[in-house]
Formats: sequence, C-alpha cells, structure tokens
Amino acid sequence: MRVVLGVSGGIAAYKAASLLRRFTESGHDVTVVPTEAALQFVGAPTWAALSGHPVATDVWTAVDRVPHVRIGQDADLVVVAPATADLLAKAATGQAGDLLTATLLTARCPVVFAPAMHTEMWLHPATQANVATLRSRGAHVIEPSSGRLTGADTGPGRLPEPEDLYAACLAVVAAADPAVRAEAAGDDPHGDVRGDLRGVRVLVTAGGTREALDPVRYLGNRSSGKQGVALAQVAAARGAEVTLVACNLSAAVGGSGSGGAIRVVPVESALDLQAAVTTACADVDVVVMCAAVADFRPKHYVETKIKKTHAADGSDDSAPVIELVRNPDILAGLVVGRGAAARPIIVGFAAETGDETGSVVELARVKLARKGCDLLVANEVGATKTFGEDTNTVHLLFADGRPVVTVGPATKSDVAAAVWDGIQVLLPAAH
Ligand code: CTP
Repeated sequence: MRVVLGVSGGIAAYKAASLLRRFTESGHDVTVVPTEAALQFVGAPTWAALSGHPVATDVWTAVDRVPHVRIGQDADLVVVAPATADLLAKAATGQAGDLLTATLLTARCPVVFAPAMHTEMWLHPATQANVATLRSRGAHVIEPSSGRLTGADTGPGRLPEPEDLYAACLAVVAAADPAVRAEAAGDDPHGDVRGDLRGVRVLVTAGGTREALDPVRYLGNRSSGKQGVALAQVAAARGAEVTLVACNLSAAVGGSGSGGAIRVVPVESALDLQAAVTTACADVDVVVMCAAVADFRPKHYVETKIKKTHAADGSDDSAPVIELVRNPDILAGLVVGRGAAARPIIVGFAAETGDETGSVVELARVKLARKGCDLLVANEVGATKTFGEDTNTVHLLFADGRPVVTVGPATKSDVAAAVWDGIQVLLPAAH
C-alpha cells in the first residue's frame, strides 16, 4: 500500500518516526510529507532515511513530477500524525499553501488525522468545529488519548501510541476497501451490503483492557479483538455509523470489510474504556460491549520500574504483593445510566466455559439477569477455544424472553452478522 505520512509541527512528531517504521516494516511504501514547522522537531534527513524517499515541505521541489498533485492522487492512505490545531484548521478550510495541505486536497483515498495538542486547543470550539467539518467530509479523525502532555499538564490531547495508530489506519483502509467489502458480502449470507442498518448509530468495544503496574508492565487478558472488529465491520457494511472503541488492538484489525466509515477510538485501561464509552453512548442507538474488561486493577501504579531486591548474600527471593481493586462494571453502569429510556439498546458478551453449577447457556442466563442488558451473547470458551481463533460458537440470549439462538461453529463475521440480525429485531421498525 502507498502511504503518505503527513507530519505537522508538534512535539509528538517524534512518535511519527515509530509509526513510519511500523508501516515500512510491514512492507508498505511510505512518503513522508512534513510541514516546515514539523522539521523544527524532527529533521528531513530522519524522514528521508527511514522512508527511503526524498522529503519536501513545499510545492517547488521536483516540480517536473508535479508532486503537489501526484502524491495525493497516488496514495492508498494519507495519515497525518500528529495533526496540530493549525493543520486541522487549514485542512478544514481547504488551504493548499504547502505540500501537505495540497496533498490533502488531491487525495481521494481514506484520510486519517491523529490530532495532538494541548487540551485547551483540542477542546476549543474552533478546533472541534474543524474536526466536525473534516468528519462530515469522510475523513477519520482519531480521538486523542488522555494523559501527560508537554510540561506538567494532563488531559486529552496526547497522540495515541504508534501501534494503536497503525491499527486504526488498517481498520480505516479495510473499511474503505471495495475488494474486501465484496469479499465480505460474497462469503456471508448475512453480511451482504444491504444497508439495513443505515442511519443506526452504533458503538462497539473490542479487544482486552490492560491495567498498568509500572511503566513497562500490565495485567492483561487474551482477547484478540477479532470478534469486536468483525462486529464493527459488519455493522458498517450494513450501513451503520460505527464507533469502535479499540482496547489495545494491533494485528487484529483487518479481515473482512465494510461499507461505511468506522471511527476508531483507541484506549488502554478499563477506566479509559469507561470514559470513552460514557462519552460516546449519549449519541448512539446501540452499544455492543464485546471488549474483555479487567475486573481488577492494581491499587497503586508504580511510577518507576519495579525492581527485584537483592540481599548482600544473594539469598533474597522475596516478591512484591500486588494489591488489586475492583474496576467498575461498565456494562451494568450503562444499563443504570439508561434508566427508563428506550435507547441505547445494550448488548453484552459473556465468555463462559460452563462448570459444575451450570451449562454455558445456564450461566449466561444468570449473567443476563445480573447485568440487565437487552441481549447477551454467550461465547463458549476454553483453554484452546475462541481466543485468537477465527471460528466461534455463541448463544444469543434475549432479555425479553425470545428463544435462545445458537450460531456456530462459525467465522467471526458470521457470528457478527447473526448478532446484528438479533439486534435488529430489537430496533423498532422506524429507527
Ligand atoms: N464488562 C464490563 N465491565 C467489567 C467487566 C465486564 O462492562 N468490569 C462487560 C464485558 O464487556 C461483557 C460483559 O460485561 O460484555 C460480561 O463480561 P464477563 O467478563 O463475562 O463478566 P463478568 O461481569 O466479569 O463476570 P464473571 O467474571 O463473574 O464471569
């Protein structure tokens, strides 16, 4: 794939070098188009050496090759990371004063902006209006992460990690690729591009949360995210407006295609996920909580790497005790927050093995009642089943007493199609 990596002038420009490496190491051909200001942070030789292509910021270099038109026309993906407030404003108003903005005007491929700036700049109505304009034209604007910014500030405005940006870019390309879309339609009797979810706004969570112990370690789980990504892609293929809250997804994104844009919000921990879901759920018709959420997190985050202690005689084999605290139950919280309102329809997933107290369906029925959601999709899991695999058996349990629907063993996109069929019967005819 031919990728244009636009880099605008923010301190997070250094992270774009890792994103560039991620693309080139996966065999993609990357042309870097920095702005003049970006070169204040990372110089042209770095971009040229890492990409293997010459680098220019203006429209006057190698004019015989008409770069201000060609670079955008030839691209399969344009990603701008970091996208500063200034760059977003220029893109939203269609300016073309340098090579990057000209490229943005000529590109007809998917365009991804990864904003990074101080919280005040991000939240300013001018920036938010520019983001809304860009999204309304089909661009994908990734939500910035929350956390430490330059200096002592913290808040939304951080550039997401390069691995997450890479995953988000692949998801966007997969969602836009007509070949992949056709494959999804052809392979799957349920997943045809029939537009029956057109106008429905959905929020899907996918992947597994990570609970940080120290700067290099976390408590995690084995969720690959494939089922959640398939749910997002099938919904988009059927015309829904999809927000995918992606918990630590990397190679999982790709697979079958879709017909509409998927907005990807990368998150890491259960608390990040809760914040993202709480913000987004106000504007959606359906929430599908497919993510594997850690029930516990370390009580204390250790700011520096936890080290072993060494006694003078080398005999010390002590190990730290990690105290855990409960994470919120996000799904149950959504049900409480909805109250008596009809929307959003809330769908949970339950990974169950079955045990001496009950079968998978029996345990899922108890969980459905405990969580209070409208539909619970019970996944049969075991040591070798489901995690990271491409097929899956699920049972759909409805709160309104409809009979259980069992699907599988089936591909994750078949399962996704069956889940959307189940959700659709819960959506009133005129949505
Ligand atoms: N879930 C959630 N918040 C949590 C834990 C789970 O929102 N803290 C959601 C998951 O996204 C999923 C559903 O709840 O949709 C069920 O997850 P599961 O891990 O099976 O349920 P638990 O409540 O953790 O139940 P248990 O550990 O007793 O099996």
